[in-house]
Amino acid sequence: MDLKRRQWFLSVILLSAALLIGPQFSSAAATTPVFEVRSKFAGKREKDLGALKAHDVHRHSRLLSAIDLPLGGDSQPESIGLYFAKIGLGTPSRDFHVQVDTGSDILWVNCAGCIRCPRKSDLVELTPYDADASSTAKSVSCDDSFCSYVNQRSECHAGSTCQYVIMYGDGSSTNGYLVRDVVHLDLVTGNRQTGSTNGTIIFGCGSKQSGQLGESQAAVDGIMGFGQSNSSFISQLASQRKVKRSFAHCLDNNSGGGIFAIGEVVSPKVKTTPMLSKSAHYSVNLNAIEVGNLVLQLSSDAFNSGDDKGVIVDSGTTLVYLPEAVYKPLMNEILASHPELSLHTVQDSFTCFHYIDKLDRFPTVTFQFDKSLSLAVYPREYLFQVREDTWCFGWQNGGLQTKGGEELTILGDMALSNKLVVYDIENQVIGWTNHNCSGEIQVKDEESGAIYTVGAHNLSWSSSLAITRLLTLVSLLIPFLCNMAL
Ligand SMILES: *[C@@H]1O[C@H](CO)[C@@H](O)[C@H](O)[C@H]1NC(C)=O
Ligand SMILES: *[C@@H]1O[C@H](CO)[C@@H](O)[C@H](O)[C@H]1NC(C)=O
Ligand SMILES: *[C@@H]1O[C@H](CO)[C@@H](O)[C@H](O)[C@H]1NC(C)=O
Ligand SMILES: *[C@@H]1O[C@H](CO)[C@@H](O)[C@H](O)[C@H]1NC(C)=O
Ligand SMILES: *[C@@H]1O[C@H](CO)[C@@H](O)[C@H](O)[C@H]1NC(C)=O
Repeated sequence: MDLKRRQWFLSVILLSAALLIGPQFSSAAATTPVFEVRSKFAGKREKDLGALKAHDVHRHSRLLSAIDLPLGGDSQPESIGLYFAKIGLGTPSRDFHVQVDTGSDILWVNCAGCIRCPRKSDLVELTPYDADASSTAKSVSCDDSFCSYVNQRSECHAGSTCQYVIMYGDGSSTNGYLVRDVVHLDLVTGNRQTGSTNGTIIFGCGSKQSGQLGESQAAVDGIMGFGQSNSSFISQLASQRKVKRSFAHCLDNNSGGGIFAIGEVVSPKVKTTPMLSKSAHYSVNLNAIEVGNLVLQLSSDAFNSGDDKGVIVDSGTTLVYLPEAVYKPLMNEILASHPELSLHTVQDSFTCFHYIDKLDRFPTVTFQFDKSLSLAVYPREYLFQVREDTWCFGWQNGGLQTKGGEELTILGDMALSNKLVVYDIENQVIGWTNHNCSGEIQVKDEESGAIYTVGAHNLSWSSSLAITRLLTLVSLLIPFLCNMAL
C-alpha cells in the first residue's frame, strides 16, 4: 500500500493510535504466542516454602517501584523547546533519548534501516533501534492482543507484523511496525540513589517519519507517550505490576532538564482537579482566566464548546494554544497595561515588540480550574526573548481545530514549566504546585513504605543551534485520531 495515496483526516478524539496493517515487514524475531504465562511453581509436589518465600520477596522487591527518568531540554521556543528523557532498550541495553509527551499514547523510536528518519541531530547523538542486534527483541503480530485492541482493521491477518501510523497535531507522523523488547529504567532505591530495573514494552520501530519528526535539526530518538490509554508507556509497565499509574514532572525552564518520576509523590503536596473522564487526553475543566486581578469576560462556552470539553495538559507541546475567543480578550488585557508597545509579527504566529524594561511590569495570567486549583503563568514564562531588545508572546491564537470546527485549548510546557505537575491516573486527578525544578521531590516506595528523594537531572545537549534555530521549532505534538479514507 502506498501511504502517499491515502488521505488523512485529523480529528481530536483519540479513538486509537491509528495502526495500519500493510505489507509484511521482515523481522528477525519469530512470532510469539500471546501471553505465555507459566508458573515456575506449577506441578511441584512438595511445597518448598523457602523457595516460595524467596520468590515472593524477589517479586515484592520489583512491585510498584518508583522510577527516576533522567531529563534534559527546556521550554524556550528560541532554544530547543522540548524535554527528553533517557531510557535503555534491548539486550544489550542501549540508551535512547525520547521526547516526553503526555499528549500521546505510544513509545516509538527511529528504526535501524529506516526509509526516512533523522540521521544526525544538532541536539543529541542519535541511536537507531536495531531489533537484529537485541537478543530480547520479538515481533508483534496482528494476533497479539496489543495490536488488536488498537487496531480494528480487517487486513490485520494472524501472523503478519503489526504496523502502526501515528499522526501528531502539527501534521508530522511516524510509521513503522511494533516490536516487543526489554526496557531498562532507573529504580529509586534510596535518597538520590538508583539501581536498575526492567520491564517488557511494546513500542513502534519507526521506519518512516515525516514533517518535523523526519528532520535532523534538534531531532531526538523518538517520542515516549505518557497518555492514559492502555498502550502508553506507563500503562504497559503498570499492567506488569511494575509501577503505579501515577507520575510527575517538574520541567525546569531556568537551567534546563528537571525531574520526571513514576510513582506516588509525597512532597511537595499538590492540590488537584478531576480529569475529565470522557477525554482520551489529560483534560481538565477551566472556569476562568485572570489577567492581573481582572477576570476576563468570556462567553460561557469559550473553552468548553462541543464534545471535546476542557483544556488539554500536554508536555509534548511547547506553547499555549487558545481559541480566538479567549486569545483576543487575553492579549487585549495584557497589552492594556502597555499601550506604548508597537507590535510586529514574526513567522506569522508570534506577536513581538521592542522592550528593554523589566518583565514584571507585565501582569501574571492565572487559569482557574475546578476544586479551586489555579495555574499562574508569569511574564518570564509567557514572554521569550528573540533579541536583546525584542520579546515575543508565547500565547498562540487558535492553532488546532477539531473536525467539528471546535478550537482546542492546550497548556504546553510554557505553562507547565517551573511547576511540579502530578498525574494520578488511578484516582483520575491532576494537580500542580509551583516548585523549584532544579531541586528535589519525595516519592514513596510502595512496598517498604520508605520515602526517598529524587533530584533533578540535566542531561546535556548541544546548544550550538540556539540562536540560528530561532523559532523554528514550535512543536505541537498531540496525536489525533487518524481516520483513514482509502
Ligand atoms: C531484568 O531484571 C532482572 C532482575 O534484576 C534480571 O535478573 C534480569 O536479567 C533483567 N533482564 C534483562 C533482560 O536485563
Ligand atoms: C485496558 O486495560 C484494563 C486493565 O488491564 C482493561 O480492563 C480494559 O478493558 C483495557 N481497555 C481496553 C480498551 O483494552
Ligand atoms: C524560560 O526561562 C527563560 C530564562 O529564565 C526566559 O527568558 C524564557 O522566557 C522562559 N520561557 C518560557 C517559555 O518559559
Ligand atoms: C533551586 O534549587 C537549586 C538546587 O537546590 C538551588 O541551587 C537554587 O538556588 C534554587 N533556586 C531558587 C530560586 O530557590
Ligand atoms: C543544562 O544543560 C544544558 C545543555 O547541556 C546547558 O546549556 C545548561 O547550562 C545546563 N544547566 C545547568 C544548570 O547546568
